[in-house]
Amino acid sequence: MKPVKVGVLGLGTVGGGTVNVLKRNAIEIARRAGREIVITRASAKDLTKARICDTQGIQLTSNPLDIINDPDIDIIVELIGGTSVKDLVLQALGNGKHVVTANKSLLALHGNEIFAKASEHGVMVAFEAAVAGGIPVIKAIREGLSGNRIEWLAGIINGTGNFILTEMRDKGRDFNDVLAEAQALGYAEADPTFDVEGIDAGHKLTILASIAFGMPLQFDKVYTEGITQITRLDVEYAEQLGYRIKHLGIARKTPEGIELRVHPTLIPERRLIANVDGVMNAVVIKGDAAGPSLYYGAGAGADPTASSVVADVIDVVRALTSDPENRVPHLAFQADALVDIPVLSADEFKTAYYLRLSAEDKPGVLADVTKILADHQISIEAIIQKQPLAGETVVPIILLTQVTREKEMNAAIAKIEALQTVTGKVNRIRLETLG
Ligand code: HSE
Repeated sequence: MKPVKVGVLGLGTVGGGTVNVLKRNAIEIARRAGREIVITRASAKDLTKARICDTQGIQLTSNPLDIINDPDIDIIVELIGGTSVKDLVLQALGNGKHVVTANKSLLALHGNEIFAKASEHGVMVAFEAAVAGGIPVIKAIREGLSGNRIEWLAGIINGTGNFILTEMRDKGRDFNDVLAEAQALGYAEADPTFDVEGIDAGHKLTILASIAFGMPLQFDKVYTEGITQITRLDVEYAEQLGYRIKHLGIARKTPEGIELRVHPTLIPERRLIANVDGVMNAVVIKGDAAGPSLYYGAGAGADPTASSVVADVIDVVRALTSDPENRVPHLAFQADALVDIPVLSADEFKTAYYLRLSAEDKPGVLADVTKILADHQISIEAIIQKQPLAGETVVPIILLTQVTREKEMNAAIAKIEALQTVTGKVNRIRLETLG
């Protein structure tokens, strides 16, 4: 059979890795796909730049349209990233080409339109590499768990953020110093605020929630909070209480609607996911039949992400001759069976909390704080008063609460902060047992 011809758009970290993996494993890949798969064309903005891959035998161009409009190309692999490639992708689909992409922001923001266009033209869009790098978590949810009702999922889905939190905790390193290293290693987004403010994790959570619950992609409804407010003090106190702080993306189905949230979270240190460190990612998925299952692996980097890109290319090649109606649906559920389930506002979230406040060390202070919590029906799980920090007279008080509704917690925090005996803001971090 004729080899399948692939055009790669973008020869950066993931593009270079994809060229390397496809070349290095060409024989195994052909045995799996049933056909040879060859990258015949590739585009890069700057053709003079040094690359991590050997481009011998690949016709290079600086104009992606040369490849998209080339009738010889069967599959476009889009690895430029960002939402500005939307028109290129739509044009590729319009030209009847299948698209493999690692572009989480594009899919989170414009995926509904892109999948509709793909269906209209009977072509596939595959995106395993868009979430959690080398972990085949999209395939696990879309295919491996397709007999389940998914109840919730929670994941460490940004390697850069996890790398920063781990280095800060283990080595006491400075935030910016670790971020610079993540950038040099090719983990961080072009705009690193996407990593540290939870935007990148929000993009990935949008995709995971859509394929878990069968709903359209809705990034604008994801609550995102980053890791920039996490202090070493909170990390230490959390550890003393038996918890780790991880930056999690959480999607949970409740009777009232779906919670979609990305934020720092205390999790019991005995949970496997609490021990996922460095640039590694992990996702726990709770299905009604399978129970909880955990997926762990490298969440970023050239070869791990290329592993997912190449797997998608192979899947596309295997399905080339199948009837478009009988392929695995893009979003795991048939397009006409997606349901617009309401997404809850942050006020409606139900979670437990870690609270840290600074208060005067005198009788009645704790009683005032606990009365406010009781007035809002918030039950306390644990409470500790620490020694004053060096040079301070106020004492740190740490509280763990049981699950409550976020609007009750917000109202209680406002009242605690208004107490004369409490100094400054209450530092609030959500807590999930993931049990
Ligand atoms: N910036 C992302 C991360 C890359 O750090 O996880 C992989 O999507």
